[in-house]
Amino acid sequence: MDVLKRALSCPKAELHVHIEGTLEPELAFALAQRNNIAFPHASVEALRAAYDFSDLQSFLDLYYACADVLRTEQDFSDLMLAYLRRAREDNVVHAEIFFDPQTHTPRGVSFETVLKGLEAGAAIAAAEWGMSTRLILCFLRHLSEEDAFATLELALPFIDRIHGFGLDSSEVGHPPSKFERVFAKCRALGKPVVAHAGEEGPPAYIVEALDLLKVSRIDHGVRAVEDAALTHRLAHDRIALTVCPLSNVRLCVFEKMELHSLPSMLAGGLCITINSDDPAYFGGYLGANIRAVQAAFAFDATTWREFFRNSFDASFVDEAQKEKWL
Ligand code: HPA
Ligand code: ZN
Repeated sequence: MDVLKRALSCPKAELHVHIEGTLEPELAFALAQRNNIAFPHASVEALRAAYDFSDLQSFLDLYYACADVLRTEQDFSDLMLAYLRRAREDNVVHAEIFFDPQTHTPRGVSFETVLKGLEAGAAIAAAEWGMSTRLILCFLRHLSEEDAFATLELALPFIDRIHGFGLDSSEVGHPPSKFERVFAKCRALGKPVVAHAGEEGPPAYIVEALDLLKVSRIDHGVRAVEDAALTHRLAHDRIALTVCPLSNVRLCVFEKMELHSLPSMLAGGLCITINSDDPAYFGGYLGANIRAVQAAFAFDATTWREFFRNSFDASFVDEAQKEKWL
């Protein structure tokens, strides 16, 4: 079997996927109809044509607008189940999935509706296909610390059902330091924390995420290699980076896949995992990311094995479960 086929067929974990970013245009239109919402795009094709992003913000504007079709528990369940059904085709056996309550609660969709819906979809995938999932609550960093604290309050009644906390949305101008106190509270609740850092933001944001937020993984982190001392630290401490190659190209972090920092990251000894981020918007799920990376870099079988081992190793499941997968 060739390297690509083996990479695609290998069991793997996905550690960086936003559930709202798995909303395919077809499902968005179906939900708009079901919920009687006038959707501001003429057709599925017209919506897809709008997926032409110049940077992170241009994507986020559309991503938050489309999320407006998600209203009921059933909507969130359908969204989760559609993602897991698709991820399974790429041999994902475990997924740690981000959700953004602040995208929903200001629209009058309750925290409980979002959580129960996502859990219902995940429960079907667990029963039908044995898929394992964890939910990670992400705070929107363009909003205030106060708003993040209020969201954490909303989460408290359900805290046993939330596995960890993360930080996403517009990075530049919203450094990790803005959420130092919120993350201290999350950690005091006994939860692991992660943060998007070094996607568009500078390596200094990765340093802040490590030192101030005390994250156990960095989401993206593709700019880490601009700082040799930071690269050495991340490699030495085996901090996993959840890299999302198609996302980085679609959001113009790199002009084309051949210019992605993955080879430098590997040369720096970093603990890399490959993920899809917002697969409905960026041209594909985990399998498409693997194909695009392989087309650009032709990595060997050992490298791919290492990426997938890293995905289980850096996951938040207990050691006994990891042993079964590794
Ligand atoms: N970066 C920041 N915020 C996000 C992303 C991303 O890639 N996807 C969804 N929210
Ligand atoms: Zn992301």
